[in-house]
Amino acid sequence: MTPEEKRPFVQRLFSRIAPRYDWFNRLASFGLDQRWRRAAVVRGGIAPGQRILDVCTGTGDLAVLCARRYGAAVGIDMNREMLGRARRKSRAKRLPIGWVQGDAEALPFPSETFDRVVIGFSTRNLSNLTQGLTDMVRVLRPGGQLLILETGYPSNPLLRVGYQLFLFTVARLIGFLLTGRLWPFTYLARSVKQFLTPPQMIDRLQRLDTQVEYVPLSHGLASLYVAAKIGPKPDADCAADGQHSILEVTSCRP
Ligand SMILES: C[S@@+](CC[C@H](N)C(=O)[O-])C[C@H]1O[C@@H](n2cnc3c(N)ncnc32)[C@H](O)[C@@H]1O
Repeated sequence: MTPEEKRPFVQRLFSRIAPRYDWFNRLASFGLDQRWRRAAVVRGGIAPGQRILDVCTGTGDLAVLCARRYGAAVGIDMNREMLGRARRKSRAKRLPIGWVQGDAEALPFPSETFDRVVIGFSTRNLSNLTQGLTDMVRVLRPGGQLLILETGYPSNPLLRVGYQLFLFTVARLIGFLLTGRLWPFTYLARSVKQFLTPPQMIDRLQRLDTQVEYVPLSHGLASLYVAAKIGPKPDADCAADGQHSILEVTSCRP
């Protein structure tokens, strides 16, 4: 699939499965997906007062988690149906989250705006991964971190084969039972199988001038990459100056 074909395909896919997306995640991961999101924000050193951007936020679980724990967040996604679900969650929980419909590969924010950029289970879905990663690093302040949570690549070959078998059988069946469609879940299983290995992902990130740490979660069933943008750390008084308005996304440097 070319990048030009992939974007409308991914749009159509998430529009179709949006109403059942959270159910699919919980059931197909036996509830581990939320544990992985929590591990990502804890490992990523997210703290109150930081400006946090959740890229490809989907139904907003990562943004909601960040806002609940740390005060506020901004979530961006290109899909209206997925964002609609996200918006409902933040309204129900009265969380200060700014939702933006937009493109992860051309983020509508000035450079060096955020302290943390998170992206969950979505780098596989970008049409142009390098362009997306480059833009995520661009909007990070020097010293800020890009936290990438992805489906995993167990280092144990037996576990890896079992995991991929699971995705093509049980996970597809769960998806079909929830949505009456098989093709979105065939794509999801294939996208996991064909995605970059951890050394390949680390290499991509290092080329963007980041210092990368790879953290396998649940024996490698999920992967967390913590990529720190090389450069001076944010001013101490800036990081500590408490709550920011969610859409006040300009850098707090003068
Ligand atoms: C698997 S969902 C991820 C949901 C969420 N991050 C989570 O933790 O469950 C992938 C999301 O990426 C979004 N997406 C894919 N390509 C995108 C792009 N170029 N710009 C913005 N959103 C994109 C899709 O619309 C979809 O909502």
